[in-house]
Amino acid sequence: MTNQHLPLRSGGSLPPCSHTPAPYIGPTRDEIIALRRAYVNPGLFTYYREPLCIVEGHMQYLYDDAGRRYLDAIAGIAVISVGHCHPEVTRRTVEQLTRLVHTTTIYLHPGIALLARKLAEHMPAGSDLKVTYFANSGSEANDLATLMALLATHRSHVVALRNAYHGGTQATMAMTAIATWKYPVPGTVPVSHATPGYCYRCPFNLTYPACDLKCARSLEDVIRNEAGGEIACFIAEPIQGVGGVIVPPPEYFQVAYEIVRRYGGLCISDEVQAGSGRTGDHYWGFERFDVVPDMVTTAKGIANGAPLSAVVTRPAIAEKMTQRLHFNTFGGNPVSIAQGLAVLDVIERDKLRENAREQGGYLIDRLRELQDRHALIGQVRGAGLLIGVELVRDRTTRGPATAEAAEILELARERGLLLGKSGLDGNVIRLTPPLCVTRDDCAFIIECLDECLTLVNGK
Ligand SMILES: Cc1ncc(COP(=O)(O)O)c(C=O)c1O
Repeated sequence: MTNQHLPLRSGGSLPPCSHTPAPYIGPTRDEIIALRRAYVNPGLFTYYREPLCIVEGHMQYLYDDAGRRYLDAIAGIAVISVGHCHPEVTRRTVEQLTRLVHTTTIYLHPGIALLARKLAEHMPAGSDLKVTYFANSGSEANDLATLMALLATHRSHVVALRNAYHGGTQATMAMTAIATWKYPVPGTVPVSHATPGYCYRCPFNLTYPACDLKCARSLEDVIRNEAGGEIACFIAEPIQGVGGVIVPPPEYFQVAYEIVRRYGGLCISDEVQAGSGRTGDHYWGFERFDVVPDMVTTAKGIANGAPLSAVVTRPAIAEKMTQRLHFNTFGGNPVSIAQGLAVLDVIERDKLRENAREQGGYLIDRLRELQDRHALIGQVRGAGLLIGVELVRDRTTRGPATAEAAEILELARERGLLLGKSGLDGNVIRLTPPLCVTRDDCAFIIECLDECLTLVNGK
């Protein structure tokens, strides 16, 4: 296949790949744009000045309608865990597709029971986090976890964090606290927002560790002043993804969970982005903070692109769902579950958590080297393959380099690299490649970013 991307000045290029994409024979890119304009809700946005048309995927690579190959360093926004169309996952999913697509939970089927047991086995020993309710998206899982918390505590107030993203339904939008992702409509649950551990932009102007975790401790003020001293639950991402890959100090959640529990609330860890081995060291993001939540929500990477999400909790909390009839037509459908089971097996078999730790560590080290040479990089942070590079116009004032981040995405795309961006100001380059990326892929990411950062600076 001819590589029609712009070559890197360094001579580096995409690592070779033996996969040959099938010729694309559908509507042209322009026809798709016209169809979308005519028939698709305009609220759906696309990346890039000239939207990219992706028609095929293989492991860490994507192919456009012209057959060009890209290294996918965003992975459908942290969804592709084991690789696009991973052969083992595809084989097992197709097997299920030919046997049975749908039954609903009113009949027995082995799928949900087996995957629920596997999820329980992946929870910390002795945690009693062993009962799962399956749904289809991260938003649904967070809705459901909050519902269970309200039922279990007989309270209604939810505390989330500023800078959080928990979904696009009305309840989860209320928990989300990034202005660009919130419509000005009332939420369906009362939510207050506490301060995340975003040390690079500490609202108290303090420095860790001298700050004594004022951000986490301020949760108590929020509960006492805004929630009448009673909360149903505290929901937080262990590492805020959409908010700009914010990694709080190591003790943050220990302090926060102690406060929440003192005021009778339950702790929900939103693992939609950080779960499924993405952070490398552990299977779940909360584990790196040495806490055990009362509920875990997961989606995205759990099924490598199939619509599947889950709420895992303790039996005593899950039992509240028996008070009424509750039903989710597609939640835990046999096909998504087959994909979820295969994904978990592949993550273990191919040691993808270990790979995430290794490649992520390499990326972070090399990105910090780039930071020494490119003033635009304000901070590099992350864990495993959930990495953020915050771009600033000036390292003293830390003014966000929003336009520069958008330009870097364009320049990287022209060179065969697909990146993400996040943060309230869209100035954080987000790297969340599939967990199967190789060292050569990561070296290409660094060389490409190096060139793009240089070009953006007009050098
Ligand atoms: C942390 C987190 N929670 C929840 C969601 C919502 O998931 P979904 O888009 O599947 O509803 C997202 C999506 O990006 C997320 O990143």
